[in-house]
This record gives sequence, C-alpha cells and structure tokens, in this order.
Amino acid sequence: MRIPFWALPLALPLLSGAAFAAEGTATAPPQGDPTAGKELAQQGHPDKSAVMPCQSCHGAQGQGNPQAGFPRLAGLSAGYMVAQLKDFGSGDRGNHPTMTRIAKALSEQEMWDVSAYYAGQEVELSSAGEVSEELQQTGKRLALRGRAGDAVPACAACHGPEGRGLPPQFPRIGGQHSAYLEKQLNDFAEGNRANDASAMMRDIAGKLSAEDMEAVAAYFRRAGDGQGGD
Ligand code: HEC
Ligand code: HEC
Repeated sequence: MRIPFWALPLALPLLSGAAFAAEGTATAPPQGDPTAGKELAQQGHPDKSAVMPCQSCHGAQGQGNPQAGFPRLAGLSAGYMVAQLKDFGSGDRGNHPTMTRIAKALSEQEMWDVSAYYAGQEVELSSAGEVSEELQQTGKRLALRGRAGDAVPACAACHGPEGRGLPPQFPRIGGQHSAYLEKQLNDFAEGNRANDASAMMRDIAGKLSAEDMEAVAAYFRRAGDGQGGD
C-alpha cells in the first residue's frame, strides 16, 4: 500500500497555490448568483441564441442523462465547472462543438451564476444497474489501491474513496454516469481532452485498458451514494 498517496506531492502545490490565490482580493472568484443561474439553466440566454437552456441536456436539477452521455452537474463544485466552461471556450478541453459554442457566448459572471445554481443541487442517484462481481472487484481495486505493476495510482488519492474529490482542482466523480466517465477516460487516453494540469489524467488513463475503464467507471458510478462502491 505505498502507491495510493504518491500523488500528494503533486496535489499540494496546486492546493497551496489555490489557497494563496484566494487570499488576494484581486484574484478572488466572483460570487455566482444561483437565482440568475437557474434562469439561464432553464431558459437559456434571452439575447444570445448560442446559449441554449442547459436543462435540455443536463436536466433541470443537473441530473444529466446517462444514455445520452450528458454529465450530471449537480454537486460538482462551481469552481470546477467554471474552469471547464473556460476550457471548452478556449478549445483546451477537446472538441465538443455544442459546449464550445455555449461557453464562448457566456460571460464570466454568467458562468459563475449557472455553476452556482448546479453546484447547489442535490445529487440524486438513479439505480446503478447490475455489474458483474469481477468487474466490481477490478474497479474497486483500481480505485482504492491502483496497480503497482505499471504505476497506476489509486484514483482515491486525488478523487477520494467515494469519489467526492477535492474541488475545485480534483473533481467529484462519485455518482457520475458511467458512460460519461468512460468517455472522459478515453478522451484523456487519446489526448482528445488535454486540460489536466501536469497531464495527470492523460498519464493515468493511458495505462488503463478498456476493461479497466469500464470497471472503474462502474465503481465510481455506484460510489457516489456513500456506499464506497459496494
Ligand atoms: C445540447 C446538449 C447540451 C447543452 C444544451 C449544454 N450542455 Fe453542457 N455538456 C454537454 C455534453 C455532451 C458534455 C460532455 C462533453 C464531453 O464529453 O466532454 C457537457 C459538459 C459540460 C460540463 C463539464 C462537466 C464535467 O463534469 O466536467 C459543464 C460544466 C457543462 N456542460 C455546463 C453546461 C452549461 C452551464 C450549459 C448551459 C449554459 C450547458 N452545459 C448546456 C451537453 C450540453
Ligand atoms: C494525481 C491526481 C489524480 C489521480 C490519481 C486521478 N485523477 Fe482523475 N482527475 C484529476 C484531475 C486534476 C482532474 C481534473 C482535470 C481538469 O482540470 O479538467 C481529473 C479528472 C478526472 C475525470 C473527469 C471528470 C469530469 O467531470 O469530467 C475522470 C473521469 C477521472 N479524473 C477519473 C479518474 C480515475 C478513474 C482515476 C484512477 C484510475 C483517477 N481519475 C485518478 C486528478 C487525478
């Protein structure tokens, strides 16, 4: 069990950087207004046709859509969501035409508003579905212990054992739809998503097989209910 916490030296400079930034008045993030954000999520932007209602894909309460691959936004941190919106806008987060168009049209304040709204929504899990015992064990092993043989760190070292994350840098992945989690792992592995600091996720995902990805996505999909993935 020496592997899981190798990531801490990487995590600490990021975190202390964030704490430092938060102390400076000039760099404090704007406050999101969840009421304005709710309106944007439900109705889109009245004057910007690119900004469709977020709820048409992500759901009114941010529950997402597992079949369509629309991620759950409920319970993600506002800081993480704003960072992702900026990365879609600048093209740093892969090639996703819809999200890119939307993000380019949003002002920074609108990003904070809509993110504040979704961050405040409850994570309500739908039933997780059946997963084979073997897949579950593989997922749990990778999530909690990693794999020493090819230096795959435990996901829990950065995302926590139940995937609650350490936001805004380390996002919540517990309770997220498994098809979306798998797609992100594939995107990192293939370099289609390259907005991770120090290529942390690209390195890790590049060492995972398709089966590993399926297993670990199934684990975190179920881990969000506080049951530790069991
Ligand atoms: C037409 C469907 C659609 C609409 C409308 C839409 N999204 Fe998305 N959104 C997606 C998809 C699909 C993804 C996942 C992209 C990928 O695979 O990387 C995504 C990803 C995101 C993410 C990243 C989540 C994560 O866990 O990293 C955020 C944040 C987000 N959307 C916010 C918004 C906001 C805010 C709005 C409204 C202003 C919005 N979206 C409208 C389809 C949509
Ligand atoms: C060294 C720390 C670290 C470890 C270990 C780690 N991650 Fe990550 N992960 C990150 C960071 C940082 C991000 C956010 C990247 C960004 O800023 O967009 C991330 C993002 C993700 C995302 C995208 C989430 C979203 O909402 O789009 C998924 C999925 C993910 N990680 C899965 C895993 C899995 C599965 C493992 C274990 C096999 C793992 N991670 C191990 C640091 C880590």
